Amino acid sequence: MSMTFSGQVALVTGAANGIGRATALAFAAEGLKVVVVDLDAAGGEHTVELIREAGGQAQFLACNVARDSEVRGMTERAASLWGRIDYAFNNAGIEIEQGRLAEGSEDEFDAIMGVNVKGVWLCMKYQLPLMLAQGGGAIVNTASVAGLGAAPRMSIYSASKHAVIGLTKSAAIEYAKKSIRVNAVCPAVIDTDMFRRACEADPRKGEFVMGVHPVGRIGRVEEIAAAVLYLCSDHAAFTTGQALAVDGGMTAL
Ligand SMILES: NC(=O)c1ccc[n+]([C@@H]2O[C@H](COP(=O)([O-])OP(=O)(O)OC[C@H]3O[C@@H](n4cnc5c(N)ncnc54)[C@H](O)[C@@H]3O)[C@@H](O)[C@H]2O)c1
Repeated sequence: MSMTFSGQVALVTGAANGIGRATALAFAAEGLKVVVVDLDAAGGEHTVELIREAGGQAQFLACNVARDSEVRGMTERAASLWGRIDYAFNNAGIEIEQGRLAEGSEDEFDAIMGVNVKGVWLCMKYQLPLMLAQGGGAIVNTASVAGLGAAPRMSIYSASKHAVIGLTKSAAIEYAKKSIRVNAVCPAVIDTDMFRRACEADPRKGEFVMGVHPVGRIGRVEEIAAAVLYLCSDHAAFTTGQALAVDGGMTAL
C-alpha cells in the first residue's frame, strides 16, 4: 500500500533520535517537507543532513517542548517555513528509571510530566488553531503501551502516557468536524540507543524484554514510523481518537 498524503509539510518533535528521526526520514521519503524539532541541536541537524542526502527537504528548529514560549515561537517559525503544517508528530518524551512508586521524587514527577504531558499539550495548543485556519490536518502523539496498562517501576511514566491518550481523545472529539484528526501511537519496547545501553548494563534485561512480546522480538523504529504515516495518511481518513498499539501482540496477552 503506498501512502497518500493531501498535505505537504510534516513537523516531528523529538526528531533528533530514535523513533522521531525514523519518522522524519519516512515523511521525507514520501516527498513531504519536514520540520525537525528537538532540544538536541547536533542530533536534529544530523537528521536534517540525512534527509537532504536522500534528496528531501528539512529544517531544524531547536525547542524545549516543555516551555510555552518556546513552543509558541517554534510553531510560528515552523508554519512560516513552508506556509503550513499539515501533519504533526508530537513524539518528544523522556523516561526516567523511577523504582517503585513510593521511591519517586517530586523532581522526577515534574520532569516527566513536563515533557511527556505538558509538551504534547503545548504542541497541540499551538498546532490546532493553525490547522483550523488552514482547513485541516492530522496529529499523532506518542503514547506507549505504558499508557494502556500498568508499567511497574515506571508509574509516573505510565501516568504521563495515559494522560497523552486522554489529551488525544479529547482533542479528537473537539476537532472531529473540523477536518483535523488526532490519534496516538503506543509502541512496546523499540530498539533504540536507550534500550541497547540498558542491555549492555544488564544482559538479563534484554532477554526478559524480548520474552514479553508475543512475536518474540522488540520493535524497530521504522515500524513505528510506518504506523504514524498511516495515521496521518488519507487511508486513515475515518480514524480519529484512537490509541494504536504497535506492540508485537503485547497488549493482546
Ligand atoms: N523506545 C521505546 O521503547 C519506546 C516505547 C514506547 C514509547 N516510547 C516513546 O517514544 C518517544 C520517542 O522515544 P525514543 O525511544 O525515540 O527516545 P529517544 O530518547 O531516542 O528520543 C527522544 C527525543 O526527544 C528529545 N527530547 C527530550 N526532551 C525534550 C524536550 N523537552 N524538548 C524537545 N525534545 C526533547 C530528545 O532530545 C530525543 O531526541 C518518547 O515519547 C518515548 O516515551 C519509546
